[in-house]
Amino acid sequence: MSKIINPKEGYNLYADNYQNDYRKLESFDNGEFLKLLPENVDTAVELGIGDGRIAEKVKAISSRFIGIDISNRMLENCLKLHGNIELINADTDYSIPLKSESADLIVAYFLFVHIKDAKGLVEESYRVLKQDGVFLFNLIHQKKPPVLKAGKEKFKIKSYYHIPSHIEEYLDYFWFKWERFDTLDGKFWVSKIYKAIKM
Ligand SMILES: C[S@@+](CC[C@H](N)C(=O)[O-])C[C@H]1O[C@@H](n2cnc3c(N)ncnc32)[C@H](O)[C@@H]1O
Repeated sequence: MSKIINPKEGYNLYADNYQNDYRKLESFDNGEFLKLLPENVDTAVELGIGDGRIAEKVKAISSRFIGIDISNRMLENCLKLHGNIELINADTDYSIPLKSESADLIVAYFLFVHIKDAKGLVEESYRVLKQDGVFLFNLIHQKKPPVLKAGKEKFKIKSYYHIPSHIEEYLDYFWFKWERFDTLDGKFWVSKIYKAIKM
């Protein structure tokens, strides 16, 4: 049995292997997420930016781009791979370390799966967004977290498979206007992308 560890420790261990997973991550929605990015925004924030897999795409549509992640090792790799990005090392499970109404776009790609307080993340995103700002995120469907390998270590990273209807209730509660885009594999959904606008 492989041990289950918290996201900070897990992604610090896995950071140098993360690029090997790009193709698998892309297969969840075959590029649909990136197509939903708005065309031009002033300030964009990526929560759980990781090593910056999609950072160039978000940077390209924003005047100011800020990336936040709990893992210092993922952020180090992000700087090595992409340079010149404003980065903050922080845990976004209970709060986002940014001023209220300061962002036009918040992106959280493959992040909710590691967030315990999903309602808190929706609430914090609402607080940080300007009016008409966009919160773009996904939920994924997996039976259990994958076993990851880094050197001789085998482990799983603590994951939470939030029920989509619960997340949708939170979006409604905070008065987001939202749309959902599903990727299916036969009868089952694999990924749900949400584009939510702060009203
Ligand atoms: C599956 S990776 C996704 C990275 C990137 N968004 C992408 O699509 O490739 C999840 C990222 O979220 C970060 N993360 C996990 N829990 C977090 C938290 N509570 N606060 C901030 N970042 C977190 C991890 O360190 C990791 O870099």
